[in-house]
Amino acid sequence: MVNNLKICKSIKDLQKKKNAVILSHYYQENSIQDISDYVGDSLALARWASQTTADIIILCGVHFMAETAKILNPKKRVFIPDINANCSLAISCPYDDFFKFIKNYPNHTVISYVNTSASIKALTDIVVTSSNACYIVETFHKNAKLIFAPDRNLGNYINSVTGRNMVLWDGACHVHEQFSLEKILELKQKYPSALIIAHPECKSIVLKVADYISSTTGLLNYVSISKKNIFIVATESGIIHKMKMNNSKKIFIPVPPSNSTCICNECNFMRLNTLEKLYYCLKYETPEITIEKEIMMKAVKPINKMLELSKKMKL
Ligand code: 13P
Ligand code: SF4
Repeated sequence: MVNNLKICKSIKDLQKKKNAVILSHYYQENSIQDISDYVGDSLALARWASQTTADIIILCGVHFMAETAKILNPKKRVFIPDINANCSLAISCPYDDFFKFIKNYPNHTVISYVNTSASIKALTDIVVTSSNACYIVETFHKNAKLIFAPDRNLGNYINSVTGRNMVLWDGACHVHEQFSLEKILELKQKYPSALIIAHPECKSIVLKVADYISSTTGLLNYVSISKKNIFIVATESGIIHKMKMNNSKKIFIPVPPSNSTCICNECNFMRLNTLEKLYYCLKYETPEITIEKEIMMKAVKPINKMLELSKKMKL
């Protein structure tokens, strides 16, 4: 095992030499978050990727995030420390099945969560992230015919907030699906003054008891401005690193999954990336993200539409 300080120094040296930027998601392990140039949610990652002047982008997150960075920068080289860092939502929506699905709903606008493969984005009219989903869906007429994929929990949540009736693809995130209402209520009994905060990928029975529901960035902002000191956090536990950094006196309790013997409140895909793999990725410039040109040309349109629309949004 290489010493962390030494590896961090080597990463920084390589980064400078190669003019590389390191972008990370909040669910990455702490050491990766700490060495990154930017740490953010999926929307912020897409925004930074669209603005960077670096020659190389290292995306420490999951595959669809790195694909999005590549689609926005077709001429740049984009790498991910572990190519197997996929996402259960993206996996739950294969191209052929989704192609058939949308054919059953002619004249519908296809809205896809950013947690999808590039080929699904190529079939999409507009992409959303959890930060801007409700805002973007509300730009459509109340009676507009809409399809939303792939997360049924997020889709149900958006339908309930916006009063729309989108047709939903039946996918779910294996991490957020596992949070147990029973465990949350037990925690609430133990810490009655705590606020329950949740990501909208959680099941509706969990969202019903939440005091606040938002994207990762939304949750981070909320705990900073809240006057309360204890929070029960129903999302991937990696986010607690930033929460603690920004609020050293507040207490954050991760929600355990229904089966407490596993560490399923960590996304096993996100955690495939390690500091060591990040180092090798920069050094040997692999694994690289490659996407067919035709798919990229189609997929960039709904992503750019989202970036353009969400410029006006207050986050
Ligand atoms: P955010 O858009 O909030 O970053 O969420 C991404 C994600 O994968 C949540 O599981
Ligand atoms: Fe995908 Fe869930 Fe992991 Fe987020 S937490 S990247 S939705 S598998």
